[in-house]
Amino acid sequence: MVAHAQPGRRGSYGVDAPYALAFLVFMIALELVLAVATATTSGLVRPFLPVLFLSAFAALFLHSTLRGKFLVWAELLDDLHLRGDEQVLDLGCGRGAVLLLAARRLTTGRAVGVDVWRSFDQSGNSEEATRRNAVAEGVADRVQLHTADMTALPLQDDSFDLVVSSLAIHNIRGRAGRAKAVNEAVRVLRPGGRLMIADVRGTRSYAVQLAEIGMVDVVRKRLGWRFWCPLVTATKPHDRPRP
Ligand SMILES: C[S@@+](CC[C@H](N)C(=O)[O-])C[C@H]1O[C@@H](n2cnc3c(N)ncnc32)[C@H](O)[C@@H]1O
Repeated sequence: MVAHAQPGRRGSYGVDAPYALAFLVFMIALELVLAVATATTSGLVRPFLPVLFLSAFAALFLHSTLRGKFLVWAELLDDLHLRGDEQVLDLGCGRGAVLLLAARRLTTGRAVGVDVWRSFDQSGNSEEATRRNAVAEGVADRVQLHTADMTALPLQDDSFDLVVSSLAIHNIRGRAGRAKAVNEAVRVLRPGGRLMIADVRGTRSYAVQLAEIGMVDVVRKRLGWRFWCPLVTATKPHDRPRP
């Protein structure tokens, strides 16, 4: 097992779904104006309830994207007790939140990130930003980045010990496209390798698909308030027939 310190983050990781956050802030402002306008006629507290509800949701969202997902993924990766020589792949790695946490747990291994770098999905998203973060975190020697669509990975069959994906697969349009990405994740996993997908939606379908194509130990669970999306984990069996 790799012994690794948990120093603070030195990279800069942006926020997920920045336009959704901007819309939320707009709605809070709108509800606030409406509440102030109607407060005298409808009582003092009731008009402000939507403002409170939306503000709590926005606070949870921000906490999750800026801090919670890092804490939860660090724990998930620690629980794997990596040796340090693994080949790890992050599908839709963005600015490297999970990719670089994984890289910090490697010594001779390699962390590979694949992305199309959409700034609609993560603010300031670019290959260059991720590379800068890898340098800032001191793991650039263990990190490789590919600009590629996760539905058609330019990677060999059976080549990764661990494939992770965080908040990314739901961005693919259409159920068939998302299923393709899950198939690709399984294709590049080596027999015995582990798959971990955290996503805001679609995780039930991923779990059903994984079981249908012969993955074992398929489990779907919630990750708690710090990172409020479900996680699906599965293992590629040694005797899995090729699709
Ligand atoms: C919300 S961000 C999450 C990034 C990172 N996994 C994290 O947790 O910080 C979603 C990422 O998925 C990427 N993405 C969306 N569609 C993709 C596709 N078809 N292939 C590869 N990456 C994709 C986006 O560019 C973006 O970086």
